[in-house]
Order: sequence, then C-alpha cells, then structure tokens
Amino acid sequence: MIPRIPLCCLPTPCHPLPRLSEDLGLDIWIKRDDLTGFAGGGNKGRKLEYLMADILDSSATHVVTCGSRQSNFVRQLGAACAVHNIRCSAAVMSLPFDKGLGRPQGSPPREGGNVILDELFGVDLHEFSDGDWLDLYAEADKIADNLRSKGEVVKVVPIGGSSPLGAYSFTQAAVEVGEGWDHVVTPTSSGSTHAGLAWAFHGSRTKVVGIACDPEEDLLDDLKRLTDGIDAIAGFKKGLGRLDFNLRRDWVGAGYNISSEEGAAAASMAAGREGLILDPVYSAKAFAGLLGMARSGELSGKVLFWHTGGLPTLFARP
Ligand SMILES: Cc1ncc(COP(=O)(O)O)c(C=O)c1O
Repeated sequence: MIPRIPLCCLPTPCHPLPRLSEDLGLDIWIKRDDLTGFAGGGNKGRKLEYLMADILDSSATHVVTCGSRQSNFVRQLGAACAVHNIRCSAAVMSLPFDKGLGRPQGSPPREGGNVILDELFGVDLHEFSDGDWLDLYAEADKIADNLRSKGEVVKVVPIGGSSPLGAYSFTQAAVEVGEGWDHVVTPTSSGSTHAGLAWAFHGSRTKVVGIACDPEEDLLDDLKRLTDGIDAIAGFKKGLGRLDFNLRRDWVGAGYNISSEEGAAAASMAAGREGLILDPVYSAKAFAGLLGMARSGELSGKVLFWHTGGLPTLFARP
C-alpha cells in the first residue's frame, strides 16, 4: 500500500453531457475533478493525498514549492499544509515562460482569485519578476536553503505536484472511471495528470489525449520520466516511451497562462450547453481541444473529458 492521507471527496462524479453529445455526434462524458472538494477542488487534491503522506513522513516543518502567481497547486498545497500545521512558502512569477520560446504576448491573470485563497491558507508568496522556468525553480531552492539555514526541516515539492507520487494518484483516479472509453481528454501542463492516466490506460482500447496548456518542448520527456517513476512505485514495469503519449500542442494559444480565443469560445459553449464552468488557463483550452478534435473527426465513440478544476482563476484579473 502506498501511504495516502484522505483529503478529497472521492470518487468524483462522472456523468454524460447530453446536449454536447448531440451537438457533436459523440457520447461525451465528464469526470468532475473540479469537485474534489478540498480547498476549492481541482486535480491537485488527488496528488496531495499522496504527497502530504510523504511530507508528513519526512517530519518537515516547512514546505516550499513554486508556480505561477495564480497557481491552483500552491492554493491546495497551502491548505493541506495549513491543516497539518506545516508552513508553506512558494516562489511565484506572474508569467513564467520558456526562454527558448520567449515571453508570450498577453496579460496573465494576477490579482484576486487564488491569491486571495493563498492568503486565507497562510501561504508565504515570494514573487519574482517574470523569467524562465529554471530561474523560478532556482528561486524555490534558494528559499529552501535559507529556511534550512534557520533550522527548519524543509521539503521541496515540484511544480504542480508533478513527482511520480503525484502522477501515481491518477492511476488510482483511472480506476474510478473504469474501462470502455474510446478517448480520455485532459489538460496537460506539469504532466502528472496525463502521465497517471496514460499509464493506467496503456494497453487498453482507451486513447488518452493530453491537450498541452504550455508550449514547453520537454513535456514529452517529463511524461516519460513520470511514467518511469510510476513503474517503480507500482512495482509493475509498463515502460512507456515518448511515442506512447498522445500530446497535442494545437490549443496552447499565445502561451502558458494566457487565455486564448478558442478557449474562451469553448468555455462559453460548455457553460451555455451544459452549465459547466471551465478555467481559462487549463480546462477551457483542453475543452477547445476536445471540440476541435470532435469537429475534425479525430474522436469517436465514448469520450471522457477530465475536468481538472481551476475555478478561482476565473476571478483573477491581470
Ligand atoms: C486547473 C488545472 N488543470 C490542469 C492542470 C494541469 O495538470 P498537470 O500539472 O498535472 O499537467 C493544472 C496544473 O497546474 C491545473 O491547475
């Protein structure tokens, strides 16, 4: 048994989308991980059930992570630390980007939203000016070193909770939805949601499609590293390679954290046809991917959209 502490309301609901199914000529369902419950819901709650067990085992007094200023992971990690009496610090940038690709055009969400909740959960946000992802990771390491020098026992948690343990949680999530799907469509950013689902469905008829929400070149390497890690945790070597991942980069828009026109149109459609609320950074872009693939005939049969949450970002402003 992999140690896990309960945080979420599981299993999350899974239900059909009858109007969108009729519109698109498919049997479309949705997995409601926006309703995981803990600290506002979203996909990070599942990862945190395993990550927090590991953190508690390490006797950490302080947890350090990093992300965008509107990170959903920082919000949920902050809450999980708060309820276990552990301090939480996060290095953040409004718009971290890949230096090789350049800073995307547009204004990222900044004030309100998750930042209000971070304050509620007592997270220490350390904000840095926008720069490369690697600079952001380095700032988190510096914060951790500084805390260690003051005698704290520090655990550094990777961005988005994307360690193999975080990814493992999605192999268990897959058990909740069972088999019989032709396609499972999920947003992909730090990779552990996609990696866990891809590992779980590998070898079955179900094709897991990750819609990239950031344009980083090394996402496939991240997915491979995470599924190798799941092999080790599960004690069962599936040995997924880069070619086993179906990663689509067509709906990133201008870049990570910048809303896209196609995403906004998809969010309006989900709202108007099914009363669903999608966030602009992840789930709206993934849903735009689902709509685009449905319209071009790339999807067939029974399709599951994995809603990963992110609601607070709707209330954030540039
Ligand atoms: C709401 C939401 N959806 C999707 C994702 C992407 O999940 P992952 O980081 O596991 O790829 C994130 C990650 O930050 C998120 O906050």
